[in-house]
Amino acid sequence: MPRYFVDPDISKAQTITTDFYTSSAVFEECKEKIFANTWQFIGSEELVEESGSVYPFILLENYLDEPLLLANDKDNRLNVLSNVCTHRGNLVADRACTANKLKCRYHGRVFGLDGQFISMPEFKEVKDFPTERDNLTQLSLFKWSKWLFTTVNPQYSSEVFFKDMMERVSWMPLDKFRFDPSLSKVFNVKTNWALYCENYLEGFHIPFVHAELNTVIDFGEYTTELFFPYSSLQIGMAKTSDDCFDLPATSPEYGKNIGAYYFWVFPNMMFNFYPWGLSVNVVEPTAVDACRVSFYSYVWDELKLNRGAGAGLDKVEMEDEEIVENVQRGIRSRFYNYGRYSVTREQGTHHFHRILAQFMNK
Ligand code: FES
Ligand SMILES: [Fe+2]
Repeated sequence: MPRYFVDPDISKAQTITTDFYTSSAVFEECKEKIFANTWQFIGSEELVEESGSVYPFILLENYLDEPLLLANDKDNRLNVLSNVCTHRGNLVADRACTANKLKCRYHGRVFGLDGQFISMPEFKEVKDFPTERDNLTQLSLFKWSKWLFTTVNPQYSSEVFFKDMMERVSWMPLDKFRFDPSLSKVFNVKTNWALYCENYLEGFHIPFVHAELNTVIDFGEYTTELFFPYSSLQIGMAKTSDDCFDLPATSPEYGKNIGAYYFWVFPNMMFNFYPWGLSVNVVEPTAVDACRVSFYSYVWDELKLNRGAGAGLDKVEMEDEEIVENVQRGIRSRFYNYGRYSVTREQGTHHFHRILAQFMNK
């Protein structure tokens, strides 16, 4: 019997057992088994717009804690590099800047914006130097429109995670979406990252938890589509034809009142498309019972902001936080170990748990 088993038949399945959300050992294990092996969101190309822009960041700070940098080199190529000097391990770039080379301020080692070693003082006598190992490691970069993703361990193609979403929204003018820092936020939530995600993956709780959202979304028409292997889509149908997408005839939803497309990509990314634009939510684990959720907003049509399913997102977030923090307290109980799924309303959560089990059982 595998360690985590979630029956593929949802009508028979039990939810993942609570040790997944409470055990520090399991939390540590997720780091390499899930997060190091999957694609992670960096941000959008606005971070390094001009040639020579350098942007250091920590991938999943307080968890993977990998120091990386994004650089736009002289040929306008984007590179994701290790930000750790190959001499004695200093961080090469300590702030965002514009430069044509990267110079480590500890002992002066110089690298190109593609990570190639260029020079090093006092190293003439060193044998077999430099070698490949003296370059900054270059990581895989996946770019979808203006959004950038990387992975520490590129064992899966980006396609298996993103393809279905990319096809579904290919009619939208994504290149016109503009990052709006004033609408972007960070929330610290006292719950395990997976509890936050699995709450997102079902609309079942909307009438119970989100009274206001429930007045604009038609709960009876709410749908979940699973994409295999690693993503899914929930569609929020609007109750009226106001504040909906103006869909082209090529869209599978043409003729319907769509208020929101909620795409999820394993393990921790949500892409919520509203008639006003896109809210990307990234759930970053910080402790076994805590996570940091970052909202990045990209506006397409300003006039549609604050309307329909795409309005009041902060209030919806507060309602979700309250419930998932309660669940984190609940699953510590001696009297609860797992639950069951609604066949009609919890397919997304079941699909997520199946993927978790698959990664953890490896
Ligand atoms: S650590 Fe970078 S030059 Fe020494
Ligand atoms: Fe919710």
